[in-house]
Amino acid sequence: MVDHGSGRVALVTGGSRGIGAEIARRLAGEGFALTVAARQQAGVTTAVEQLRAEFGVEVHGVAANMASADDVARLAVEHSEHFDRLDLLVLGAGMGTDERIADLRPKAYDLQLAVNLKAPVLLVRELLPLLRATAEANPATGARVVALASITGVAGEAGLSVYGASKAALISFCETLSLEESAGGVSATALAPGYVDTDMTEHLRDRLDRDAMLTVGDVAELVLSLTRLSAAAVVPSIVVTRAGPQLWRA
Ligand SMILES: NC(=O)c1ccc[n+]([C@@H]2O[C@H](COP(=O)([O-])OP(=O)(O)OC[C@H]3O[C@@H](n4cnc5c(N)ncnc54)[C@H](OP(=O)(O)O)[C@@H]3O)[C@@H](O)[C@H]2O)c1
Repeated sequence: MVDHGSGRVALVTGGSRGIGAEIARRLAGEGFALTVAARQQAGVTTAVEQLRAEFGVEVHGVAANMASADDVARLAVEHSEHFDRLDLLVLGAGMGTDERIADLRPKAYDLQLAVNLKAPVLLVRELLPLLRATAEANPATGARVVALASITGVAGEAGLSVYGASKAALISFCETLSLEESAGGVSATALAPGYVDTDMTEHLRDRLDRDAMLTVGDVAELVLSLTRLSAAAVVPSIVVTRAGPQLWRA
């Protein structure tokens, strides 16, 4: 067991690339010790080495496929055994397929629900005792869950029916988590951005300029701001839309 004194600890799923990687970087810059999780071992190893080298914080890496309930449970155990503290759980791992409802493939449907919804729910359930204990020991700051939802979970987007539905469910799940746990200091926030410039939106670059997308820094900055709030402040969701006339469109 690692003793981190009063230092805060976060677990970031999807922390090897894109939005999750930037959130992990900013948290490390604030002195958070981290568990960084993603599916592929190579990406995890690289992220861990970079964070340690750049920020000198304790970083534990876990390769875990969020489509597997066993891997989700193992991730919770590995984090708890390594740190025994969890101030911030960032549910960043996610994936989507762009297909019209008429063309939906059951396999893609199942995978999106497993990674985007089932895994976050199971991971929160497994880590709730640790989140509660951390909040009890640190009543001023409490403990937070931040879930990467999407603006497609707020307003439907053609081609993203299952993805959007999984994110809408995640927004609802965060609300329920705050209802059930915030009196004890554990609250949840669903972040719902429009298109962010990452690998996930690479396929859009021929029709949407990268400059017209949100940056990973925009999203990471909001996560950092949540970590600076007191436990008295519960933020159910934050919608971030892109500049221009689309408002509720991704
Ligand atoms: N980009 C956007 O426009 C946008 C907008 C709104 C919301 N979001 C949400 O924000 C989150 C991050 O998106 P992003 O754009 O940063 O994505 P990204 O660049 O594609 O990165 C995805 C991250 O999630 C991990 N991941 C994917 N599938 C996984 C699985 N089955 N098990 C474990 N880890 C898995 C990846 O790890 P590996 O490399 O190991 O697979 C990677 O670290 C997602 O939940 C996404 O839905 C994105």
